Amino acid sequence: MTVRRVHDLATAAYKAFLDEVEQAILARGRAFVALSGGSTPKAVYERLQPSDLDWSKVELFFSDERDVPLEDERSNFRMVKQALLNRVEVATHPLTNAAAYDQLLRDRLPDGAFDVLLLGMGDDGHTASLFPGSPALLETERWVVEGPGVAPSPRRFTITPPVLAKARRVLIFVGGAGKADVLKEVLEGPPGQHPAQLALQGEWLVDEAAASRLTAD
Ligand code: 6PG
Repeated sequence: MTVRRVHDLATAAYKAFLDEVEQAILARGRAFVALSGGSTPKAVYERLQPSDLDWSKVELFFSDERDVPLEDERSNFRMVKQALLNRVEVATHPLTNAAAYDQLLRDRLPDGAFDVLLLGMGDDGHTASLFPGSPALLETERWVVEGPGVAPSPRRFTITPPVLAKARRVLIFVGGAGKADVLKEVLEGPPGQHPAQLALQGEWLVDEAAASRLTAD
């Protein structure tokens, strides 16, 4: 686990994202990237520019999605389209059906390993759409499932724990005082308490407010 405390989370997240995607392209000639919803991921998408990367070597997927039409204002795809895809041409795979997306991932990523998996964490300790108590947390075979969520969309699609475990690089962005208590439990408490602990192998970028309860430097 790596925890980086940063002053400007959106800028640090943007730089870390670019760095990881560039490293993947250097190492493997392409980058399979899983995106998430949420405010900090959105700020990253808004900063990305056509000149930032060789986008022809990038394929974008979704770690989770709300079970709503793609044009619905609650849709993560719609958010990414408005923040990024309207300006940058890049191959993108929307998530609209769990079984079909599971098959798509098996076709595109036979080893199940995203090069870069970008995540956020909710103030209830969820990540992707893996919520506390969600049956998806127990999934060991399927890579994408449909399950319960919270407002604004009670039904969600989400990648499962095996996919989090296989990702080559995980970046997780956590900002705001409202997440300070749960972040402490996630990073310093016993394992198995919060879904976000499935991302403990990743690089955690946290702003000062979210990091305020952490004891470790
Ligand atoms: C979603 C997510 C979700 C999100 C976190 C953090 O679609 O809602 O993918 O896991 O990343 O809830 O969101 P914020 O950064 O907005 O708090």
